[in-house]
Amino acid sequence: MAFPTSVEIVDVCPRDGLQNEKGLVPVQVKIELINQLADAGLRVIEVGSFVSPKWVPQLADSREVLAGIHRHPGVRYPVLVPNLKGFDLAIAAGAREVSVFTTPSEQFSQKNTNCSVADSIRRLSEVVTVAKAANIRVRGYLSCVLGCPYEGEIAVEKVADLAKTIYEMGCDELSLGDTIGVGTPLKTKQMLEAVSAYVPIEKLAVHFHDTYGQALVNIYAALEMGVAIIDSSVAGIGGCPYAKGATGNVATEDVVYLLDGLGIKTGIDMKKLIATGRYIAKQLGHEPFSRVNRAYAD
Ligand code: HMG
Ligand code: MG
Repeated sequence: MAFPTSVEIVDVCPRDGLQNEKGLVPVQVKIELINQLADAGLRVIEVGSFVSPKWVPQLADSREVLAGIHRHPGVRYPVLVPNLKGFDLAIAAGAREVSVFTTPSEQFSQKNTNCSVADSIRRLSEVVTVAKAANIRVRGYLSCVLGCPYEGEIAVEKVADLAKTIYEMGCDELSLGDTIGVGTPLKTKQMLEAVSAYVPIEKLAVHFHDTYGQALVNIYAALEMGVAIIDSSVAGIGGCPYAKGATGNVATEDVVYLLDGLGIKTGIDMKKLIATGRYIAKQLGHEPFSRVNRAYAD
């Protein structure tokens, strides 16, 4: 399979990145981050979540974020929702696209959403049904597809079965998450082979965390399989509050550098992206985790 000629990058920093910060990030900083990402050429930015504010207080201001951003034409601004309540709040706040999430790991489901996998599929299905009726685009995330912090190995068949269920429910796209960054290229390929038996490859996104330094090689393996949607987080900010040891998501700057080097188009302006990564890292009080950002000379 040849590499895709262009790739859509989904920057998840404002959601997956900031949900893991210890302190609360001011709403104006989030709005500035999102506006800068759009200005740098990102066409999909996950801007927040409508989950329980008791569970993730860091994103409790997602309504204000949606209200404050400058919406560029041609840019999509999805938000994460765990249930119908979250969906209703998201739509009332002006969201026009949502992401839902589940996992093949029973224990991760309990820790992340306080319910069984079966119950999480039911909740997800309720959201998808209502969203489809309202013509709202839905992305479905599967977490822990290459390993779970509580259950260890996750069988690829389990991932493929769940992907089939979620896709047939009506999700427009599935994002396959290596939530704790334990995957390697071989496992990545085996998992993608199993999932793509049921879901067309052009509907699949990959979502890597860089805990074991494998994110970029895994992305390369996914590109070889024809995957053309990649999740990343500017400056490499991120993690998962319910996945011990999960470091940041793979950095958008590092992914764009890789894709530029392969001649794969992203539409992203590296200089502006670097400036955005430095902006948010400075606001959080540290250097960007992105290697490319640190090495980049103005
Ligand atoms: P629960 O406590 O079992 O829920 O939480 P509940 O239904 O019993 O409700 C408890 C309270 O929360 C009630 O309020 C509800 O109204 C309220 P109270 O009566 O106590 O005042 N509530 C809500 N409030 C606002 N928005 C909502 C909502 N739902 C209920 N949507 C629940 C269950 C699912 C809500 C909770 O477990 C939760 O919010 N979990 C989300 C955790 C989360 O956001 N995790 C991170 C995202 S997943 C991820 O990062 C992985 C990913 O990046 C991919 C990867 O890396 O693999 C996507
Ligand atoms: Mg994640």
